[in-house]
Amino acid sequence: MRPMLAPSILSANFANLEADIKAAEKGGADYFHLDIMDGHFVPNISYGPMIAKTMRGITDVPLDAHLMITNPREYIPKFLDAGVELIYPHIEATYDVYRTVQLIKDLGGKAGITLNPGSPISNVLPLLDLLDSVMLMSVCPGFGGQSFIPSSMARITELRQLLDEHKPSVRVAIDGGVRKDNVAAIRRAGADFFIAGSAVFRTENIEQTVKDFKKILESA
Ligand code: DX5
Ligand code: ZN
Repeated sequence: MRPMLAPSILSANFANLEADIKAAEKGGADYFHLDIMDGHFVPNISYGPMIAKTMRGITDVPLDAHLMITNPREYIPKFLDAGVELIYPHIEATYDVYRTVQLIKDLGGKAGITLNPGSPISNVLPLLDLLDSVMLMSVCPGFGGQSFIPSSMARITELRQLLDEHKPSVRVAIDGGVRKDNVAAIRRAGADFFIAGSAVFRTENIEQTVKDFKKILESA
């Protein structure tokens, strides 16, 4: 599957969001990743559907929303209305996760699911008929700028193998600590959708950094 890069705007400069987005767009960003945090599911609060709508006004690049919130079903319609294309709730967030993912599909979105570092990969099996993408956290969610957890490499490979066996069209996304110096290895482990926040937006030349990432990914 063609590798896709989704810069996370969590590390962008919110005083000048449009300039950062345009630079990443010029570099060839495939998606923009929105980290939605509620202060309950994770120990941080970020932003909500209003920023998704703002983003939709700035760029035509597709948006994905990573819902680090305890009641995703209530907010899925709001993010889809705001123009988000792909939604990643957390598998740990609800007791009725199948119904949650079903709602994304019913409302016309692309459905993802996110697994924390401690969640067994096989937990995605009952949801596979609904899913377009599975995202593995390679840090504990809540903050940008953390280090990639090394055991995530084996989890990527395990997930890719499981998907190849049951539903090969599903993408493997990876989120947390993805940088230019580890992204080729992560690609070779089996990921094809790469989230990167600080490694894209905390750099001098955002456009060039996105180009560098894409070049590394295409030749990995
Ligand atoms: C962490 C978020 C990530 C974060 C990644 O909870 O889900 O998307 O923005 O940031 P970096 O790439 O800096 O680890
Ligand atoms: Zn994220």
